[in-house]
Amino acid sequence: MFESLLRAWDGEHAVVRYDAPSGAWIFVCIHSTVLGPAGGGTRMRVYPAPADGLADALRLSRAMTQKMAAAGVPHGGGKAVLAVPALPEGDARRALLHRYGELVTSLGGSYRTAGDMNVSPADLDVVAERCPWVYGTTGRGGDSGRGTARGVLHGIRAAVEHAFGSPDLAGRTVLVQGLGAVGAPLARALAGEGAEVLVTDVDEERVAASGLEGVSAGDATGVECDVYAPCAVGGTLSAETIPRLRCRIVAGSANNQLATPEDAERLHERGILYAPDYVVNAGGVVQLIGLEDEGWDDAELERGLARIGDSLRELFAGAAAGGITPVAAAERLVAERLAR
Ligand code: NAI
Repeated sequence: MFESLLRAWDGEHAVVRYDAPSGAWIFVCIHSTVLGPAGGGTRMRVYPAPADGLADALRLSRAMTQKMAAAGVPHGGGKAVLAVPALPEGDARRALLHRYGELVTSLGGSYRTAGDMNVSPADLDVVAERCPWVYGTTGRGGDSGRGTARGVLHGIRAAVEHAFGSPDLAGRTVLVQGLGAVGAPLARALAGEGAEVLVTDVDEERVAASGLEGVSAGDATGVECDVYAPCAVGGTLSAETIPRLRCRIVAGSANNQLATPEDAERLHERGILYAPDYVVNAGGVVQLIGLEDEGWDDAELERGLARIGDSLRELFAGAAAGGITPVAAAERLVAERLAR
């Protein structure tokens, strides 16, 4: 399994380590360093088999290259996965994070990490005890969810402007799916701008705590709204769900929203404007790199995040002029930047 996955991958360098004390498989995948050192989060997860963890890391590392290039930041793409037999706690967790930090250090800065699923800023503090190449620790860039949410808000405004002629969100109905680190602050911000916000989450308590109007998690994709903002899981846009959508725009933070590449065309044919996920959800990267590498203050960060909206405006206009999907326009932009 590892052999076929690695052979089919178009990246630069993959490190595979079996961590005997924990039983974890560690995968560090450096997809591209063309634009700078590879950056991307560390995901800790229990997978059905180690190869599923490797497949996740390889796929996500490529998406990071696209995200960095589209955001115009001087980094390449990478991703790490700790495929654990069970989520470790206490001393065992610390020891695994230390060994992982030593492995990343041994790569000499060609891969720089941050958080992802099940890896918090506090976990990153532990990694940083053994590794200088860590973003998103508690004392520095912190939780990237807030920057991601802010970037999605700018992206939604840009999409609304393209579709309806004005970026004003007052009176627009937006469905936010998933009220986690990104969805919760996004829903609050949208409500603050006068949008009619519908929310859905498999965790009913999060819906109740939001104080916003909830819809059932089961039929979220069929809800009538102006904007559907997927901020939970990937793969919600598919041959099965796209015919049921009753929105004008899809713009949310979830990674890998399209189940297959053809779904971009399916959305286009239905007249639904789709903000490519890796463009609209780059706010976390912008936050961490801006605060930690560039030393930005809050005002500079806000300007950096607003540029996500500007990029989308250009992409939407270019796609419309060229008769192509926004996904195709984004891929073209990424290819141009990587070819320079
Ligand atoms: P999170 O884990 O904090 O929140 C996810 C929320 O979605 C939880 O409230 C969970 O109960 C809910 N959920 C899970 N499955 C669901 C379903 N089927 N239907 C409705 N709700 C469901 O995650 P976070 O950080 O808010 O990220 C959300 C998405 O955005 C993920 O796909 C993540 O990969 C992506 N993303 C996050 C970034 C960040 O900076 N946190 C950056 C870029 C992408």
